[in-house]
Amino acid sequence: MRQRHRTLRLLASLLLVTAVGASLTGATPAPPAATPLDRVIPAPASVAPGGSPYRITDRTRIRVDDSREARRIGGYLADVLRPSTGYRLPVTTHGDGGIRLRLAKGPYGDEGYRLDSGRGGVTVTAGRPAGLFHGVQTLRQLLPAAVEKDSVQPGPWLIAGGTVEDTPRYAWRGAMLDVSRHFFGVDEVKRYIDQLALYKFNKLHLHLSDDQGWRIAIDSWPRLATYGGSTEVGGGPGGYYTKADYKEIVRHAAARHLEVVPEIDMPGHTNAALASYAELNCDGVAPPLYTGTQVGFSSLCVPKEITYDFVDDVVRELAALTPGRYLHIGGDEAHSTPHADYVTFMDRAQATVAEYGKTVVGWHQLTGATPVRGAVAQYWGLDGTGAAEKEQVARAARNGTGIVLSPADRLYLDMKYDAGTPLGLSWAGYVEVRRSYDWDPGTYLPGVPASAIRGVEAPLWSETLENSGHIEYMAFPRLPGVAELGWSPAATHDWDRYKVRLAAQGPRWEALGIGYYRSPQVPWPAAG
Ligand code: ACM
Repeated sequence: MRQRHRTLRLLASLLLVTAVGASLTGATPAPPAATPLDRVIPAPASVAPGGSPYRITDRTRIRVDDSREARRIGGYLADVLRPSTGYRLPVTTHGDGGIRLRLAKGPYGDEGYRLDSGRGGVTVTAGRPAGLFHGVQTLRQLLPAAVEKDSVQPGPWLIAGGTVEDTPRYAWRGAMLDVSRHFFGVDEVKRYIDQLALYKFNKLHLHLSDDQGWRIAIDSWPRLATYGGSTEVGGGPGGYYTKADYKEIVRHAAARHLEVVPEIDMPGHTNAALASYAELNCDGVAPPLYTGTQVGFSSLCVPKEITYDFVDDVVRELAALTPGRYLHIGGDEAHSTPHADYVTFMDRAQATVAEYGKTVVGWHQLTGATPVRGAVAQYWGLDGTGAAEKEQVARAARNGTGIVLSPADRLYLDMKYDAGTPLGLSWAGYVEVRRSYDWDPGTYLPGVPASAIRGVEAPLWSETLENSGHIEYMAFPRLPGVAELGWSPAATHDWDRYKVRLAAQGPRWEALGIGYYRSPQVPWPAAG
């Protein structure tokens, strides 16, 4: 009873305050505004605001085409909206109005979509499921940040009126997670995938092997995982993915329209493998496991034939587990492999990848060997990297090698923001949010034809990172900027406008439980 009285008194005083406020300004209180259509990250290709907003209510249905993909995406949207709205939001193939998700022929491309919003409903139209899924992410970002919470919130749930027509600038919008230096469990990887999906990323590159740990079960060489995966940087317990674990990651990613790109780094960065099998070493002696952070000291034994039995088995088993088109073979920092051996090794490893039906990806040192037709080189140099190396990459690009841009002093998410950042490294310098965002992939590498640029990718190396909280502190707020570099037309790229849109994402991350770096370069709203 006392509780009820207090509540009534509180309600009465709230009404009074509202009424006084309204009479002082001589107006009724303004209804809460819907998020403007152009607030979305990555910036859409085209936005035409206008008309009344759509309001999601307890009567709203999610209407989908009668296809498995549309139903699945409808179910995904319902799973996002139900906990915070508290509404039933049935996913159905009939009725009218409400939220409509439709697949139709049109000028949408593989990943584009159109979103039309007005009083009567919101319709997302795409030619392919990936486009429909990306359109759903736009719809999600147009709703208030509280929609991301897992308990019922008051709303109202408005989506601004108008039309968004959107399609990505680049086909490769990737994020790499180093699960070798520290191991991250399946649930931690899934959590990162969910965050990537919100910003329309479409590649998850998993760095599955390095000196400090081998993280994927290979049946024909079981000690790689059971022994090579048994530690990590600092000497912790490490871990590895069983084949079932890996398939679960691939499934979770595919349901969010991300393609997994697995990497086995060779011929350097291989101490975990060399420690697991003495016969892979030129001297036949297995080195101890390694838990430090040096690079460049290990190499597979290029002259030994068993090395290629190993490569064949690993690539065959990994290719069989991976529905995606790509297999990354590393090739960076092979400082302990003589150059002629490096070229020999990369020739044979690339041929093996092709034999098992996958497209080769390598770090850009691959361009110092002979990239096979159709290969993709991932550039990780710096602004100040020597002209000769940049020219070597450009020459490969002119000869048909695709380029994914991951400049370390822009897109390495493990670089510290500034001298005070408690996590991360600084060998490529400090990378504040503006530095990460404020450049153009289309003109970054001189002499590279625009058609060779496949897109961008943000690597996250984990020497200093041990859990999801660490991942998120380094990825946010830089990750959405990488998404925008990969998705949005160059004409929309503008730091002063972007930082305002970025600031508006802060409450969304708070609602999602993401602890982010509150960069002084961004005008964040007060923490909630
Ligand atoms: C790299 O950072 N070694 C690719």
